[in-house]
Amino acid sequence: MWLVINKGTMPKALIFPKKRGNFKVGSRSISSPGTGQLLVKIRSAALNPVDYKIRDTGISVTHCPVISGVDIAGIVQELGEGVENFRKGNKVLAHGNFSIIDQGAFQRLEGVNYITGYIASQIPSNQSFDSAATVPLGEQSGSRDTPSLSEKPIVILGGSSSVGSYTIQLARLSGFYPVVTTASPNNEDLVMGYGATHFFDRHLSGNQLAAAISKVTDSPIRIVFDTISLPETQSEDEGKGRKAVSTIGSPHLPHNHELFRSSWAMVEKWLSKGIIQPNNHEILPNGLEGIIGGLERMRMGQVSGTKLVAHPQETQ
Ligand SMILES: NC(=O)c1ccc[n+]([C@@H]2O[C@H](COP(=O)([O-])OP(=O)(O)OC[C@H]3O[C@@H](n4cnc5c(N)ncnc54)[C@H](OP(=O)(O)O)[C@@H]3O)[C@@H](O)[C@H]2O)c1
Repeated sequence: MWLVINKGTMPKALIFPKKRGNFKVGSRSISSPGTGQLLVKIRSAALNPVDYKIRDTGISVTHCPVISGVDIAGIVQELGEGVENFRKGNKVLAHGNFSIIDQGAFQRLEGVNYITGYIASQIPSNQSFDSAATVPLGEQSGSRDTPSLSEKPIVILGGSSSVGSYTIQLARLSGFYPVVTTASPNNEDLVMGYGATHFFDRHLSGNQLAAAISKVTDSPIRIVFDTISLPETQSEDEGKGRKAVSTIGSPHLPHNHELFRSSWAMVEKWLSKGIIQPNNHEILPNGLEGIIGGLERMRMGQVSGTKLVAHPQETQ
């Protein structure tokens, strides 16, 4: 069954039509929410590096067209059968899914795959749609199962990135100490505000950074969380007592269900009590069209310590 919304006009979407193609604003039909799903009118959609990587490299896309975008904040319009924790009109944040065309963030209306509540949460009254949209992917990418390392050090490379900011906050919440991070010097206050205890310039060489960290703590560094994962931030010492683990912060992967179910259950409380701060954000002009320029700025490394957010409803 298909719903036609907005009195005969088809909802607008930023469509990625084919691999290695270009994003284009178009229109599409929307299906009714299925069992366990919410249909959400998107008010704010945040941009992530994966959105331009999909275009540049084709990663994570098995078939086209797709609608990119993962970070969603909006209003529940319709409930599928079996949904118990949400009501029509609820303000929600949610983790979209660009592998399923109904579930990408860069459109006016979509069906978020609710599935027992692990990828959507109510937005508390102290947060806006814009601030809430900065949370889903970054917060979940900072969530990792770690052994009990309370009062043990952690090094987080890239603390001013979205993933880095949530990793710092979750590390403090988990009891790590000290929490050492890197960023550009102009973002020192930002990362200390997230809860880092020690800051170092991200332009230090690996050896310089290791020497600086050794003055902060005598304890062995058991965990280095590289939130950037570029060649310049990766160690080549795998095998010398070190193990590199690559992770994907997607709640749609079965092996992540349990971890993300527990973290999504906490999101509303964390935000309402200020335990987790959303990212600083900048609103892009021109609705969905503005996302194209925003992604280009991200690709060029021109976005620092902030999350770009689009308003799909402002699309001309
Ligand atoms: N595996 C997954 O599931 C997953 C999920 C989300 C994101 N990611 C990946 O994680 C990376 C970060 O994503 P994001 O959304 O957090 O990005 P972002 O917020 O757009 O990243 C921008 C930040 O990166 C920082 N940065 C760039 N190069 C750096 C370096 N060499 N050392 C330290 N900081 C550096 C910049 O810091 P300064 O301005 O302070 O210099 C800037 O604030 C991306 O590659 C993304 O694709 C992976």
